[in-house]
Amino acid sequence: QKILFATSEVHPLIKTGGLADVAASLPRALLKLGHDVKIILPAYASVMQKLTTGVKEVAQLHVDGRILSIKQTRLPGSRVTVLLVDIPEFSARDGNPYCGQDGTDWFDNHKRFYLFAKAAELIALDQAQLEWRPTIVHCNDWQTGLIPALLSLHPERPATVFTIHNLAYRGLFPYQAFEELQLPSGFWHHERIEFYGQMSFMKGGLAFADFITTVSPSYANEIQQPEFGCGLDGLMRYRSDSLAGILNGIDMDEWNPGSDAHISVNFNRRTLGNKVKNKLALQEELGLTLDERLPLLGFVGRLVDQKGIDLILAQMPQLLSTPCQLVILGSGFPHYEAALTEIANTHPGRVSVTIGYNESFAHRIEASSDIFLMPSLFEPCGLNQLYSLRYGTLPVVHAVGGLRDTVFEQQGEAVDEHANGFVFEHPTPELLFAAIERALATYEHPARWKQLQLNAMSKDFSWDLSAQQYVAIYDKLA
Ligand code: ADP
Ligand code: GLC
Repeated sequence: QKILFATSEVHPLIKTGGLADVAASLPRALLKLGHDVKIILPAYASVMQKLTTGVKEVAQLHVDGRILSIKQTRLPGSRVTVLLVDIPEFSARDGNPYCGQDGTDWFDNHKRFYLFAKAAELIALDQAQLEWRPTIVHCNDWQTGLIPALLSLHPERPATVFTIHNLAYRGLFPYQAFEELQLPSGFWHHERIEFYGQMSFMKGGLAFADFITTVSPSYANEIQQPEFGCGLDGLMRYRSDSLAGILNGIDMDEWNPGSDAHISVNFNRRTLGNKVKNKLALQEELGLTLDERLPLLGFVGRLVDQKGIDLILAQMPQLLSTPCQLVILGSGFPHYEAALTEIANTHPGRVSVTIGYNESFAHRIEASSDIFLMPSLFEPCGLNQLYSLRYGTLPVVHAVGGLRDTVFEQQGEAVDEHANGFVFEHPTPELLFAAIERALATYEHPARWKQLQLNAMSKDFSWDLSAQQYVAIYDKLA
């Protein structure tokens, strides 16, 4: 197939979360399966600064009286082509893809991602003189939601697939934004992109795409229920015949403890004994008490409600009265940043909190920790628990979404080859702490712990299977 893969983030060019990882590794897996994939991405200022060579202009597009330049490059470290849409609203602005320094959304996000969608639409219809006509346009999350909607207006169009990475971000804008973009008036309907008096970019994908996927089987079920549906569960039920959950894979080269250049000492299943050297190195790096037997609990992630930070904070006194250390890396809501920093300040040697975004440090936390905390309230897939498993770091997770599909706790005493972590059923601080206690108790039995680590590290989380599931959908549609 010829696949135009539309995304607002792709690692290592621009990343705020797991979408960037998937947008890099899925296209590579598709290429490996022999498909022709081009990623389309806004030409962010920071991306253009990174790409000092190997960028050329390949087309100019006329969109709403403006001329947009399309540039082409390769995704660093791969053969995947990236088309960069040069829109001044992206390319002349520093910082985060979605918001300014102060954390508030860019005032013109509707306009920015509308222009991006227009460019994708024209390229999808081969109106950019690229002499390349995709058979499939694969869109991701609300930022690309208008693409299936715009394409629906053309009888001769490629098939569209829309992947939900997180339904909670619905891409909502007031009616004035809808008017400003001069979208067809027929779109203003609750079965199209209107959502309780607002415009929802996400609904552009959900209502118009030929097929919808999400990033785990459990999340595909959950979003059809009011509890997780974010007000869109009715639409998800309505479209359930065209909805599938496909578990994300991971980049097995980038997240490989055997060759990871970010970590102090490499290790694999046979040299698992070397893992602890990473813990000692991290304790030293962070000024934590040096102690190889003390269990180290790690957390990496966006500090937002979704990630269950409240549960961790509520259990902090209990956690601090238990012999263990805690290392946290993340950024997000200021109240979480402040609360966590305060705990680190009052517990030097035991708790380390780093506010910020640091890819290399994230690798070191995955490699060095014994236990990884992921008490998310909801989690469409989650990549960090997969990275943890690969690094023999056993996750403690809330049984939800992709966490439920990838982390399993041993039932009873018998050694179970699937068991690879600790799972609690309801998102309460008490159940989180009980699961942490089970993990700490198991940690005291090195042989059992090692068996769980080997189970975790043996599991195949590559894209091989999941990419084939996407291809099966493409084949059916095209
Ligand atoms: P989400 O996409 O909801 O943020 P995922 O678990 O799917 O959650 O993916 C998160 C990705 O972002 C992982 O690759 C993780 O390592 C990375 N990440 C999140 N916060 C940080 C941070 N502060 N520093 C480095 N990497 C981070
Ligand atoms: C979203 C979800 C996360 C998922 C990622 C990649 O950001 O929150 O669970 O792993 O997208 O699909």
